[in-house]
Amino acid sequence: MCGIVGYIGNDYAVPILLSALERLEYRGYDSAGIAIIEGDKLVVEKKVGKIRELIRALWGKQYKSNIGIGHTRWATHGAPSEVNAHPHTDERGLFAVVHNGIVENYLELRKELEEKGHHFRSETDTEVIAHLIAEYYNGNLFDAVLKTVNRLKGAFAFAVITPLEKDKIIGVKKGSPLVVGLGKGENFLASDIPAILPYTRNTISLDDGEIAVLKRDSVEVYNFEGVPVSKEVFVVPWDILSAEKGGFKHFMLKEIFEQPKAIADTIGGFLSQDLTLPFEINRINRVITIACGTSYHAGLIGKYWLEKYTGIPNEVIYASEFRYADIPVDENTLILAISQSGETADTRFAALSAKEKGASVIGIVNVVGSSLDREADFTLYTHAGPEIGVAATKTFTAQLAILYLFVQLMARRRGLIDRDGFYRAVEKLNEVTRKVEKALELNGELENLASRYKKFKNFLYLGRWLNYPIALEGALKLKEISYIHAEGYPAGEMKHGPIALIDENMPVVILAPRDRVYEKIIANIEEVLSRKGRIITVGFEGDTVLKNKGEVFIGVPEVGEDFTPFVNVIPLQLLAYHIADQLGLDVDQPRNLAKTVTVE
Ligand code: M6R
Repeated sequence: MCGIVGYIGNDYAVPILLSALERLEYRGYDSAGIAIIEGDKLVVEKKVGKIRELIRALWGKQYKSNIGIGHTRWATHGAPSEVNAHPHTDERGLFAVVHNGIVENYLELRKELEEKGHHFRSETDTEVIAHLIAEYYNGNLFDAVLKTVNRLKGAFAFAVITPLEKDKIIGVKKGSPLVVGLGKGENFLASDIPAILPYTRNTISLDDGEIAVLKRDSVEVYNFEGVPVSKEVFVVPWDILSAEKGGFKHFMLKEIFEQPKAIADTIGGFLSQDLTLPFEINRINRVITIACGTSYHAGLIGKYWLEKYTGIPNEVIYASEFRYADIPVDENTLILAISQSGETADTRFAALSAKEKGASVIGIVNVVGSSLDREADFTLYTHAGPEIGVAATKTFTAQLAILYLFVQLMARRRGLIDRDGFYRAVEKLNEVTRKVEKALELNGELENLASRYKKFKNFLYLGRWLNYPIALEGALKLKEISYIHAEGYPAGEMKHGPIALIDENMPVVILAPRDRVYEKIIANIEEVLSRKGRIITVGFEGDTVLKNKGEVFIGVPEVGEDFTPFVNVIPLQLLAYHIADQLGLDVDQPRNLAKTVTVE
């Protein structure tokens, strides 16, 4: 959802900006650009397309600048084009701005500035920021930025440089993420941590309503009134290797294979975290989970566990639907806000609106220090490490792990299980790590299967109970990276409509572990078979009933009924990955998508 970076130091800025942008490319890849101060001049270079296009354009230009800002764009206002690419400048080319987010009142501001004689070149909301700063500049960049931010409505993060004050970059955060990286004689600015990991692990997360002034040897943070704010330095626990492909063809494949570690680390992190909740757990009589995409699917599975082990009713609602609906929420409601990035606007704003109504909010996030992490009353962390592939994989199974642990914690705190019961549950989850490892051995089989099925244009995924959300997740993975239409459905619902779609051109992936709904799903398989459907079943290894039904049987390691989602999702992730790869598609950066969606 756009990535922004900034560098000020003693090294050449261009290679640092480009490498930082490449690490943020998952946030958007419609166009890319940089602005540097070369001598006394502001130089702007931008290109439509991926960052490699920008790199090509810069090849051979030996810029010596030590200060610059950069941007990779996911278009919101204005089509992907060179004129709409960032950085944007005022018309005299004195102030360059890179921006992530949306300035909601930009039309009003643009009109006002045009009436004052400003001429705009692009269709973007961002350009008004550069013009406003120019309008307010009176020899002090900080003052001009301060006046500007107080005119802007919406959620945004931006960075600005000017050759009139060559010793600083100013970064602003309100609603969109921005982190400062602290180096020796150099400092960095970025939308997300992986951008700066090769240079430093010492960071400052800006809060909404803060402005950072970065110089070579100092970083100062102020609020929007211009009052200095003292900030803590956070040492990021991730290392640079975790943000590299490590020999895999794509980040997605690497991340699929990292799942056993992600689950194990999440269990370890949970057990070592101080779990004192800042609210009385016994007064909670209702849980509402809010999330988007894959995180929403994890929430659906968490609901089954929560209701099974605690009896507390748990609704799971798309965050984008929650905020504008009249859903009753009070101080006895617990909101579980699940977000890998912790920056998804829909999820954050839904959580904040519930908080205003008196609900307690527990965030489940992967990125420590993210906005949701700071806005929630309490945070549970997935310890999956950075996830770069746009398709969520390891963070999904890590979310399942933390949800399962949270449910056991709730059951324990409400006296429904004893201490031994709690640790037995943790141990069972721990064993699942090995089963997931075993399921990954199916990789070769799924690669072969992909070559057989990649030609189909539509897929149906069916599951019941805990595996209905896995059917949704399997379908989402396939459509987002392979652009093949896929639907996930509760298998029992099929006869109420979707069965009409079944013919020999529609592969049907059916999740059929031996659990409480096994007999029912076998009946659903028969229904598909009798309509000549092409069936791929996923069930426990050695299941002879399944082996004799359908075209293909994928055997996953047997697990207890609570844990089937962990092993069943693995072949679906691998199938989606190999189909997209064999179709020659850009697996890690699928079209139209961005890893983190910071607009509503
Ligand atoms: O960072 P979040 O978990 O809040 O992101 C939510 C969705 O945008 C995300 O899961 C998206 O659906 C992924 N592309 C799925 O693979």
